Amino acid sequence: MSRMTIPEFTAMKSAGEKITMLTAYDYTMAKLLDAAGVDGLLIGDSLGMVVQGHENTLPVTLDEMIYHAEMVARGASSAIVVVDLPFPGHFLGNEKTIENAARILKETNAQAVKIEVGATDETAIAALTGAGIPVMAHCGLHPQSVHHLGGYKVHRDEGQLFLDVQAVEAAGAFSVVLECVPSKTATEISRQIAIPTIGIGAGGGCDGQILVVNDLLGIPDSRSPKHVKAYAALGEQIVSAVKDYCADVRSSRFPTEEQAFN
Ligand code: KIV
Repeated sequence: MSRMTIPEFTAMKSAGEKITMLTAYDYTMAKLLDAAGVDGLLIGDSLGMVVQGHENTLPVTLDEMIYHAEMVARGASSAIVVVDLPFPGHFLGNEKTIENAARILKETNAQAVKIEVGATDETAIAALTGAGIPVMAHCGLHPQSVHHLGGYKVHRDEGQLFLDVQAVEAAGAFSVVLECVPSKTATEISRQIAIPTIGIGAGGGCDGQILVVNDLLGIPDSRSPKHVKAYAALGEQIVSAVKDYCADVRSSRFPTEEQAFN
């Protein structure tokens, strides 16, 4: 099976099909998520928190994004692969933004980049799409601006949000992530714009949903955002399995003859 294309991804909205996306950070997980039929994989800079153990996404480097994206892209045979442009994102000027985004596409076999943008950043989207680099916009809560915002807060400026999504659509983004936005606003935006909205903490009226895969699988860290639903409790299962292994080794119940070579 070949990977979904960006036009096929956007066409899901007009076909009335809900879009499923998850984050992924390595080959093995990407292969499993792809086999489960998820439509898109995002190498999110959330890897700074859930993989690297940082407090926020700011320390993640372009080289680290490329390292993880390359592994994920190798595991994705059907899902589209999108990569976050890490902090400071597109704020280094259009030339540098194109250079960084092009490195991502050249070195990872991903199909698109995601950038945290608003109405004032349309030239960055136009520059990237002009260079043939598909852009998924990210509006609402911008985790890369956590210090400026003073924390991870619901984005309640409805007027600004409408301006932002209209601008990113007009500039050529193929889709937009809406993070931590009141459901009513996200639903109305999804009705008004032609490109698919992918919600995270934005309610069921979006055209698709995305979650951090560790949250979905119940592999907790210190955060427990309200918008998360855990579909498994793998964190508990991992601890329990490792405890059983340790107990077996300490009491000589592992390995047995079954695992031994004669
Ligand atoms: O970095 C990330 O994982 C993200 C998603 C939460 C949308 O941007």
